[in-house]
Amino acid sequence: MDTTTEQLYEAIADNDLMKSKKFLKIVLDANNKKCDAYVKNRILKKINTPSLNLIEVPFNIKGFLQVENVELTFNEKRYVTTPKDEEMINQIINTFKVNDKLIEYGINYLNSILLYGVPGCGKTMLGRYIAYKLNMPFAYLNFSNLITSLLGKTGENIQKVFDYISTMKCVFMLDEVDAIGLERGKDSTGELSRVVINLMQALDKFENDSIIIGATNRADTIDKALLRRFSLKYEMQLPNEEVQYKLVESFLNTLPNSKYTDAEILSFLSGIQEKTCANITNALTNRVVNCIIENKEITLY
Ligand SMILES: Nc1ncnc2c1ncn2[C@@H]1O[C@H](COP(=O)(O)OP(=O)(O)OP(=O)(O)O)[C@@H](O)[C@H]1O
Ligand SMILES: [Mg+2]
Repeated sequence: MDTTTEQLYEAIADNDLMKSKKFLKIVLDANNKKCDAYVKNRILKKINTPSLNLIEVPFNIKGFLQVENVELTFNEKRYVTTPKDEEMINQIINTFKVNDKLIEYGINYLNSILLYGVPGCGKTMLGRYIAYKLNMPFAYLNFSNLITSLLGKTGENIQKVFDYISTMKCVFMLDEVDAIGLERGKDSTGELSRVVINLMQALDKFENDSIIIGATNRADTIDKALLRRFSLKYEMQLPNEEVQYKLVESFLNTLPNSKYTDAEILSFLSGIQEKTCANITNALTNRVVNCIIENKEITLY
C-alpha cells in the first residue's frame, strides 16, 4: 500500500472528513487510467464544489455564517495577482506569523484589512486566497444578508458569530460591510447605528489571531470610527492590461485541449465592455460552455 492510500484509510478511520477528501483527491489525481476517467471526474467535481466543502457551524448562526475549507476548492492556477497585491498579502501573512511575538511584547494588534473597490474586482476572492495560502478555513459573513434576514436582532447575532469565530483560527471575511457601515445618525430607526456599535465592540474585544478582512464597494459611506478598526485599507484596482491578459491565459491553461494565440486573447478582451475580473471570467466561462456544447476544442473565437 502506498503512503497516500494509507493516509486516506487512516483519515477515514479517524472520522476526519476534510483530510479524507484531501487524500482522496490525491489518489484520484494520480489515477490516469482511461477506464476510470468518468468516475474520477465525477468524484473530483464533488470534491471541488465549494458548497460541499462547508464546515459545520453551530445551529444558532447557521443561517448567516458560512465556513468553507478552501484547501480543496481554491484554484490557485487561475488566480492572478499584481506585485502590489502580493506586497499587501505578504504583509498580512507575515503579521499573522509574528502574532505570538506581538502578544509576548504586549502589543494588541488586530490583523485586519478593509478591501474596497468596484463590484467584481476580486475582493471576496482575495479573502479566499489568503485562507488558501495559510491553509486556514474561510469564514464568510455577509452583512446585507444578516440585516435583511434578522432586522432587530442583528447586533445580538454579530456577537454570536464573533463568539464562534474566537474558538477557531481562520480568515474571517466581513463582506458588504457598508450595509451596516452607514454613518451613524443617518438611518431612521437607529438599528444600523446600534449594529455598527455592536460590531466595533466585537472587534475591540477580539483577541484571537484570526485575520479579519472587511470588503465593500462603498468605503465612503462607512462610519469613520468603524474604518479605524481596520489596521490596513487597500483599494482593489480594476485589472490592468497585463492582468487581464494573464486572467485569460491562466484560465485557458487550466483546461485540457484549449488553443489560443496572443492576438486571439487581445481580440477576445476587446469585446468585453467593462473589464472587471468578474466580467472577464464570466465571458470566458460562457465561451468554454459553448465550445463544450459544440463538442469542439476550446478556442476564443
Ligand atoms: N485575482 C483574480 N484572479 C483570477 N480571477 C479573479 C481574481 N479576482 C476575481 N476573479 C474572478 O472574478 C470573480 C469575481 O470576484 P469577486 O467575487 O472576488 O469580486 P468582488 O470584488 O468580491 O465583487 P462584489 O463587490 O460584487 O462582491 C471571481 O469569482 C473570480 O472568477
Ligand atoms: Mg464580493
